Amino acid sequence: MKPEFSHPASLSVSGSISPTAAMTVYNPTIPYLGPIVGGLKQGSSISFQGSTPENMTRFQINLLCGDSDSNDIALHFNPRHDQGDQVVFNSRQDGEWGKEIVKNFLPFMIGQAFDMVILVTPPGYQIKVNGKDFYTFPFRLPVDRVRALQIEGDVSIRTIIITKE
Ligand code: GAL
Repeated sequence: MKPEFSHPASLSVSGSISPTAAMTVYNPTIPYLGPIVGGLKQGSSISFQGSTPENMTRFQINLLCGDSDSNDIALHFNPRHDQGDQVVFNSRQDGEWGKEIVKNFLPFMIGQAFDMVILVTPPGYQIKVNGKDFYTFPFRLPVDRVRALQIEGDVSIRTIIITKE
């Protein structure tokens, strides 16, 4: 006698899923510090949908090499609107900031929504804001040391989506 298999006619899932979305965070409270489970590797990405307040001074997005804010920082992304418009990029090792890389404009509109992606590419962390390339911060610390995401300062975030390729 032949074994019989029954096949479901279809499978349905409700809600929207993305096969590569490893982690999604909705409406995080700022300051936010949360794990990047499994870490990052080439092809991973972190997407943000958020907005800046009308009275924005500064905010920062950090990729931390550990789960506390005293750990090394592989990427410090720090838009500033309080001393001209600029974005400061840096890393921090053993409590010491490295050499700053400063871009003298803000890719955001103050008081408006934006989306942003940090993409792990061969040369470094490629930052795109509102679909436009902004800057690629070269790796200074190995990407496989990154363990957590930290967001502080004058920004609201609606969603964070972390994908692993
Ligand atoms: C310092 C600032 C830190 C960080 C650092 C980057 O002046 O206090 O928060 O932004 O610059 O180099």
